[in-house]
Amino acid sequence: MATIPLLQVERLTIGFGREKPVVHEVSFEVMPGETVGIVGESGSGKTMTALAVLRLLPPGGRIVEGRILFDGKPLHQFSEAQMRQVRGGDISMVFQDPFTCLNPVMRVGDQVAEAARLHRGRTEGDPYALALQMLRAVHLPDPERIARRYPHELSGGQRQRVMIAMAFICHPRLLIADEPTTALDVTVQLQILHLMQEIQRQQGTAVLLITHDLGVVAYTCDRVLVMHEGRVVESGSVDEVLERPRHPYTRRLLEALA
Ligand SMILES: Nc1ncnc2c1ncn2[C@@H]1O[C@H](COP(=O)(O)OP(=O)(O)O)[C@@H](O)[C@H]1O
Ligand SMILES: [Mg+2]
Repeated sequence: MATIPLLQVERLTIGFGREKPVVHEVSFEVMPGETVGIVGESGSGKTMTALAVLRLLPPGGRIVEGRILFDGKPLHQFSEAQMRQVRGGDISMVFQDPFTCLNPVMRVGDQVAEAARLHRGRTEGDPYALALQMLRAVHLPDPERIARRYPHELSGGQRQRVMIAMAFICHPRLLIADEPTTALDVTVQLQILHLMQEIQRQQGTAVLLITHDLGVVAYTCDRVLVMHEGRVVESGSVDEVLERPRHPYTRRLLEALA
């Protein structure tokens, strides 16, 4: 029996009001355990595509057309209550700026435990103990001490590790990471990408990785889609696209790397 895609996005079109769509007929799929990159310059529609999958488009934004299937089920038809179960459960997310996602007045250990508590049934045991275990798994030194801290008491890299701990605590089947390392120094970027891969392999998670950096794609992805002005202009295996880019825009992105 053929494996069905974990995520299947078909002709997704996203618009704001009467303006012309910001994402046009974007189609792609992510197979179980696979890492797919979406690369493109700022404003090309990467984040809107990711937010549409989670049904978290900003006010005014809507899916004008298209289908989003997760494990064959029509996510675009799910109720808000069903989507709340999906978010942080089957599908988790990591964003560029963990500061905006972490609660500034809650200790990080409690926040990571809360993620497990929200999806009881996907995890076993005491949520706080599980949180400590996850903080250790993301290689934070002295997890007990880190757990008692507030987000502003951590470095950027440490905060991103906390986000990764939260994202993986419920064993998601798909992780959507939107520019997860863009705000970090180059050396810390590599450590974080490596860490994500390590846990992804342990858990067998599929990853949709969004970045403006083809270097990050080359380092982490199996396949890649190149987006330009709301459309997919090229897609294929990372080797294929990096070695024989067909679209001039992809070539420009590659030149920016050199
Ligand atoms: N709240 C909004 N209202 C109207 N247009 C928006 C809104 N948010 C984003 N857009 C537009 O959607 C397009 C795609 O944005 P985005 O997906 O964030 O790009 P990327 O993540 O590739 O940088 C941009 O042209 C942006 O101006
Ligand atoms: Mg973006």
